[in-house]
This record gives sequence, C-alpha cells and structure tokens, in this order.
Amino acid sequence: MLTTGILIIIFFSTIYVLLRYSTEKKRFPGPKPKRFVPNFLFFSILKLRDETRRKNLLKRFFPESFHYVELTVPLASQYYTSKYGDIVQINLFNQPTIIISNADFADYILRRNGKNYTLRFGNQLGLAYLGMEHRGIIWNRNVQRWKYQRANFFQKSLNSKILDDAKYISNDAVDYVLKHLNQFEIQANVVDTMDLLRAMTFTITCHLFLDLPVGSIPIEKTKHYVNSIVQYFKAWEYFLLKPMEFYKHHLTAKHEQSVKDLNEVVKEIISQRDPSQNCLFINSLFHALEENQITKQEMNQCVLEMLIAGTDTSSVTMFYFLLALSDREDLEKNLLKELKQDSHTILINGLKESMRFKPVGPVIMRCAIQDDIYNDIPIEKGTNIIINLVDMHRKSKDFSKPDEFDLINVEDKDLSNTNSEKNVFLPFGIGPKECVGRWLAKVEMEVIIAKLILNYSFKRANGTKTLEELQTRWDIAQQPTDPGYMSIEKRST
Ligand code: HEM
Repeated sequence: MLTTGILIIIFFSTIYVLLRYSTEKKRFPGPKPKRFVPNFLFFSILKLRDETRRKNLLKRFFPESFHYVELTVPLASQYYTSKYGDIVQINLFNQPTIIISNADFADYILRRNGKNYTLRFGNQLGLAYLGMEHRGIIWNRNVQRWKYQRANFFQKSLNSKILDDAKYISNDAVDYVLKHLNQFEIQANVVDTMDLLRAMTFTITCHLFLDLPVGSIPIEKTKHYVNSIVQYFKAWEYFLLKPMEFYKHHLTAKHEQSVKDLNEVVKEIISQRDPSQNCLFINSLFHALEENQITKQEMNQCVLEMLIAGTDTSSVTMFYFLLALSDREDLEKNLLKELKQDSHTILINGLKESMRFKPVGPVIMRCAIQDDIYNDIPIEKGTNIIINLVDMHRKSKDFSKPDEFDLINVEDKDLSNTNSEKNVFLPFGIGPKECVGRWLAKVEMEVIIAKLILNYSFKRANGTKTLEELQTRWDIAQQPTDPGYMSIEKRST
C-alpha cells in the first residue's frame, strides 16, 4: 500500500516537473527570475512612503530595478554584462530587459530587424516632464510621428549640401569663438575647454539649422544657451527612467525649471528667424506648422532636440581627443605634421578612437514593438533593449588593445554602415534609428580639431585628470564631472 502511494507521488511529481520544464519559456542568461514574487508587489513597494524601507524592499525583491535606480543605466548594464556575459536578460521595472554587447545580436536589433525596435523605453511621466512624450524624434514613442518628423525635418535638412556648408561654417564658428577666447578663460591662458567646444558646435547648429549666422549670437548669450542645454541633459537623466516615487520634490522642481529654461531659449531663437532666408530645417518646420501637419509643441521640440543632439555629443568627443593628445606628445607631433600636409588619417582615427574608448553615448536604449525571436529565444513585445556600446567597444577579439587609447584599435574600422552582420564599432548606432547627425558630426569635429591643433597646443591644467583617470557621469551623454580646464598656447608659425 505504502509503496503504491510512493509510486503515485513519484509519478505525479515527475509529470509536474516535466510539464513545468517543457512550458518554461526559453530565456537569455541572467539572474534567475524570482518565481514566488508576484508583479503587484513591485507597485506595492513603490507606494511605501518610508524611503529607506522602499529601497530595502526593492533591493531584496527586485534587485535589478534597484540597481538601475541607484546607478545610472550604463553602470548598471555594465554590472550585469560583467556578471553574465554579452547577452543578459533581467527584469527591470517588471519588464523583461535584454542587455546586449554581442555584435551579431546588436546588429539584428538595430539593423537587420531594426523596424521592430524604433521605439526607446522610458518612463511615460518622466518623458512628459521632458516634453519628449509624443514629440520630436529622440524619445518619441509614437512611431508614426517619429517617422514623419525624422524624415521630413531632420533627414531632409541633413543632406549633402549641409555637409558641404558645414565645412565653411565650422571654420567660421571656430574663428568667431576664438576671437572671444578670453570669455572662456578662468585665468590667463587656461580655458574651460568643454564650454569652448560647446560654444563652437552650438554656433554651427544655429547657423546650419536655425538661420542664425555665425556671429549673430553674442558670446555671453551663447554661453547662457549652452548652459541651458547642459542643465537639460541633467534633467533628462533624472526624469528618464525612475518611477515617480523616487522623485525628490526639490530636485523635480529644479529639473522642471531646466526644461522650461531650454524651452524659453528655443522660443527666443525661433523668434529671431528671418523667413526670407533659405534655411531648410526651420523653414520646413514652419511650413508644416502652417499646413497643420505638425503642432507648435512638436515644432519647438524638434528645434530643442536639434540643439541638444547637435551640441554636446561632438563637444565631449573632441574634448576626449584633446585630452588624449595633451598626454601623448608623439601623437600630437604626428597629427600636426600630417595636418600641415593636408592629410587627415590620424585626425580621423583619433576621433574614432575617442568614440571607441569613451563613447559619449555609452548605451543605446530601444524597445520591441512586436513579439520577435532571436536564436530560437522569444523576445516579447515591450521588451526593453540596452545595447552596451562600452562593452562592445572593448572586446579583445575585435580590438587589439581594447583597454588602451591607441589608434591601432580603429585603423580598420569604418564609420559607414556596412551590410555585414558583424558591425563591432557602432558609436552612432546603425539602422533606421541611428544617429541622424553622424556625418555632420564627423565633418564638424574634423574641421574644429584640425583648426585648433594647427594653431594651438592644449595641456591639462588646474587638476584636470588624464583621459584614463577622468571621472565622468551619464547625463544621457557621458560627461566629465568636472570642468575640462586646459592651458592653451598659440603655436608659433
Ligand atoms: C560625436 C558625435 C555624436 C555621437 C557619438 C552621436 C551618437 C548618437 C547615438 C549613439 C545615437 C542613438 C542611435 C540609436 O539609437 O541607434 C544618436 C541619436 C541621435 N543623434 Fe547623434 N551623435 C553625435 C552627434 C550628433 C549630431 C551632431 C546631431 C545633430 C546634428 C545628432 C543628432 C541625433 C539625433 C536627432 C538622434 C536621435 C535619432 C532618432 O532617435 O531617430 N547627433 N546619436
């Protein structure tokens, strides 16, 4: 009798285990999902008023979400990549989330099946605070509106003519800003290099897209506008992901103000436009507004996004390159020699290496629009995707000296999109939602750095750290935490 009972129990247990095993969904490697923690517990924990208890419980039951609230997206992603490998699945804010630094999978998401991933994930309320919810192109989660604005305003205006114009405009912008070099000095011959570079890229963007010719915005104003952009980036990081339960009243108010300030800047800039001029970006926006194809808010957000995307990313990248040069005399000497012969190989590779070594966009965030499958493993609709570019750019199989700043790493790497399934170097992303300003960034950075290095030498000053030691933080763009002070000396001709 006893043996029959035991046999029955063993039989049913085996059936149960087999059934459970066979119905268990295949998933990518990662921390084991906590099966006995119901999803509603997450929201119940968020509702707790006591912040310490809330954090402790989140850490205990939803450690992945806790990490993303406490650290920034790139740091939390790197934590999981180093623990589980180049494809990791975690549960972030109750959503499946895949962190990828595997080149083939990244290419699949961004390019081969890119249409299914033209959304980014983010907190709806936070995006509304930023003015990005359903507006503009960077974080617009209405795919139709994103597509329309990207194609008709951004892609249309970033054409080959603008790239030609950009060469001359960048040249003029450098001259203009350098004429006011003293306004960037914190003491004799020591400048805040980050702000100097931002003033240049901002001036270029305003001329090319907003019909404000180089020199028409006084430098003091330029500095004020640039600072509003920097503050918006901080607000962006603050609002992007975390649930509102983690907002702190005084910080929310501060960041809300930064968003308002930049919107005021946008209005001021738009009001100075001369409609008789032939400026494709701003004119197309106004035309679409008159034809009721876009709203005023959409128009303003497109202008705001052109300003934020066009200013900081290239400035930070150039700063990293200047920093690298300041500690590598041979590299600087060779670059100078090459530039004098009107050759650009070191310049191009130096900028590429700066983007590899410290990608200013360390992660690319996306979201699955429909159910999908990769290597027989399902990816549910709504799954968050994080492409970990930092890790991808440091793989020893793809880069000969991954942890060193050395031009050898990128000599054979191309910036243009290839149809290869193994694009291992993706500083601008790839596919339908790739960086729309990639070629402009290349042109302007090359002109600015060439002109600066031909005329000046830069050295670290006032405690500015080396490229390797530099402290940075993710405010959407990976920014130095301290101002980039450098001494600047005119070269003798
Ligand atoms: C060194 C300079 C730059 C770097 C490293 C950079 C990098 C990136 C990256 C990684 C993305 C995300 C791509 C993706 O999701 O696949 C992006 C998006 C974008 N970039 Fe850039 N970028 C740079 C300069 C610029 C410039 C100069 C502009 C504008 C003139 C610009 C405009 C944009 C816009 C509008 C998007 C959003 C596109 C969309 O979501 O549809 N970027 N950029």
